[in-house]
Amino acid sequence: MQRYQYPKSRELFERAVKVIPAGIPGHLGPASGCFIPVSAYPFFCERAEGTYFWDVDGNRFIDYMCAYGPNILGYNHPEVDAAARAQIEKANCTTVPAPLMIELAELLVDTVDSADWAMFAKNGGDVTNLAMLTARAATGRKKIVKFVGGYHGVHPWMLDVGYPGVLYEDIENIITIPFNNVKMFKRVLADHHGDIAGVISTPYDHQAMNENHLPADGFWNEVRQLCTANGIVLILDDVRCGFRLDLRGSDYHYGFRADLICFCKALANGYNISALCGAESLRPAISSVFATGSYWLSAVPIAAAIRCIEILRETNAPQIMKEIGDKFADGLIKVADEHCFELRVTGERAMPILTLGNDDSNFLLQEWVAEMMMRGIFLANHHNIFMNCAVSDEDLEQTFAAAHDAFETVRKNHPEMYR
Ligand SMILES: Cc1ncc(COP(=O)(O)O)c(C=O)c1O
Repeated sequence: MQRYQYPKSRELFERAVKVIPAGIPGHLGPASGCFIPVSAYPFFCERAEGTYFWDVDGNRFIDYMCAYGPNILGYNHPEVDAAARAQIEKANCTTVPAPLMIELAELLVDTVDSADWAMFAKNGGDVTNLAMLTARAATGRKKIVKFVGGYHGVHPWMLDVGYPGVLYEDIENIITIPFNNVKMFKRVLADHHGDIAGVISTPYDHQAMNENHLPADGFWNEVRQLCTANGIVLILDDVRCGFRLDLRGSDYHYGFRADLICFCKALANGYNISALCGAESLRPAISSVFATGSYWLSAVPIAAAIRCIEILRETNAPQIMKEIGDKFADGLIKVADEHCFELRVTGERAMPILTLGNDDSNFLLQEWVAEMMMRGIFLANHHNIFMNCAVSDEDLEQTFAAAHDAFETVRKNHPEMYR
């Protein structure tokens, strides 16, 4: 199998780094430290369609990162793009919003079980921040409980001391506890009685760099009951899982009802929009919060979101992604086993994380993912990956063929290693 090379990506990166700090800032670039070795990864994309993207060197990838989640129907979905184009012809960013905004809110209220209203922003962090402000506005309290490994965006309160620019004062009202640990939550409630405004959590523990954990039996029920009993706002950060597990919301999927629910990534198949939905009881609080942005009500992403959600509903997309995810996971585990590797697939099958047994430092995983990358299969060595509805059986077969080759190569590179 011919391994990919990336001369044009490198050339462009040298240009980029002169005028853009870190060349490609944030998690999409090599400065994030996750491209290991960096030589195995493309840096720039030329075009995308369905489940594939082509880099600037003409290499085609079956992309299981899905732009870290937004690609849910397949890149450049013709119907979503047509809806966006039709709206471009009319108007996008205008002084007063398009009535389409109401249509999208109605669609979300109709689709999402815990939604009595919806409002819109651009990024996931916009709406997780808005949810935190709403919880404080509703309760008049300061403290927010979150869970270890839960990522909610880049506002200072979501980060930790040690992140450049973040002060202790930014996080002094944030309490972080282990996921699935109700005992610890009860302890926090006792220690901070009457001070907790909200609890923010992803639907399950889908942290990076580690195996992922589903909610323990009864965990969400107990958290829900304790929040209700103590007047605490329960915020579900469904930015990553939203529409991949259940269109009615991931709280519905796990059998509880959140007070606020945050959506972003899969909402418009790549068009930039996020949404905060919530319970009737929080309508006055959210209405009182000062929240806006230059592009928050732009009509083109709203048009794309409406068509995207309609298609997700028409096709029962979560079921499609679950079936693809099952085939993907079962097939890869089998291939790994044939090469005497233990591939662990944890989290939900629509967005699993891959780890290897006897590989605590992840170095084997990094090598294997790099080999997959150079064979046209875009995975991640540090983060959950994502299924999208356009992955075909043929794509899966190509993935398994590449995996055979990649495991064989890692095995040959490590004649010392039989564990
Ligand atoms: C669970 C979760 N919450 C919030 C965010 C922040 O979203 P954004 O990067 O769009 O601000 C992310 C982004 O990866 C996420 O995965």
